[in-house]
Amino acid sequence: MTASAALSSFRDEEPKISDFRTEALAGLRGQPRVLPCKFFYDETGSRLFEQITTLPEYYLTRTEEAILADRAGEISALAGPGCQVVEYGSGAIRKARILIEALDRPAGYVAVDISRDHLIQAAEALAGDYPDLEVHAVCTDYTTDFAVPDPRDRIATRRLGFFPGSTIGNFEPGAATDFLAAAARTLGRTGAMVIGTDLQKDKEILEAAYDDAAGVTAAFNLHLLERLNQELGGSFDMSLYQHVAVYNEAAARIEMHIESLAEQIVEVAGESFAFAEGERIHTENSHKYTVEGFRDLAAGAGFETKQTWTDEDGLFAVHYLAVAD
Ligand code: AVJ
Repeated sequence: MTASAALSSFRDEEPKISDFRTEALAGLRGQPRVLPCKFFYDETGSRLFEQITTLPEYYLTRTEEAILADRAGEISALAGPGCQVVEYGSGAIRKARILIEALDRPAGYVAVDISRDHLIQAAEALAGDYPDLEVHAVCTDYTTDFAVPDPRDRIATRRLGFFPGSTIGNFEPGAATDFLAAAARTLGRTGAMVIGTDLQKDKEILEAAYDDAAGVTAAFNLHLLERLNQELGGSFDMSLYQHVAVYNEAAARIEMHIESLAEQIVEVAGESFAFAEGERIHTENSHKYTVEGFRDLAAGAGFETKQTWTDEDGLFAVHYLAVAD
């Protein structure tokens, strides 16, 4: 346990339960049925995700952390002194520590996450571990527009976005471009971004990473049904659904689905939904890029790729992007 310390600021724009209700019902009514993957990350879901990151099949986290640790000095040299780090989807705030330790006199760190209690806990722990670092937290859906709090008593030389984990892969390519373009505006003229992308590779490796032997990813996926049951009066029988993860090669993405094992009718928020046997709810896309493909996408959003680092097996890439003039 680390000591926790006060945050320099906390802004709470946590999405309301009514947002979950509205978006979940709209998704369930659609054809095909969908549930937005951002709803994975309540407290239980965030904890399950942390467990996923330690699984032997889930190479993403440890590979990215190794790249960041190896290249921290190079990242720091590119970023220069006095950066304010803005992390999109900060989670447990583990990887950012690698950056914070390597950066030259950072002007602060802003954690942005959708999961309120998890965010406060992680940000306070970070503040406790780095007493000289100004730590701010913003609870919001980072795909919406949000204001970045400025450092209290100095001026940051640069806002350095940090978007690790290949979370950019959750967006459709067009939405990824829109998100990066919005981030470029938020980060400003001198802004830059350190971003991780999972790379295209054999289907077997990818599918194992999203359907682990211990069943943690299955629990993470199916937890969405538990949320519907607990928060929206849902009647899903958990034993009648299964986790499905498939690599869609044409779209270069892992897809996660929840599949109904029987013909059945369920209630959510007083509304009935009929499922055929084998019918699926699409819960996540995780796009895989090539280095070139991602650089092109970033260029389309107004970022110039200054550097890309990969591990020696070519599993994962970390890019340093600068807002283009
Ligand atoms: C955190 C979105 C990057 O897509 O690999 C892990 C989420 N889903 N296992 C990913 C996830 C299933 C993860 N991201």
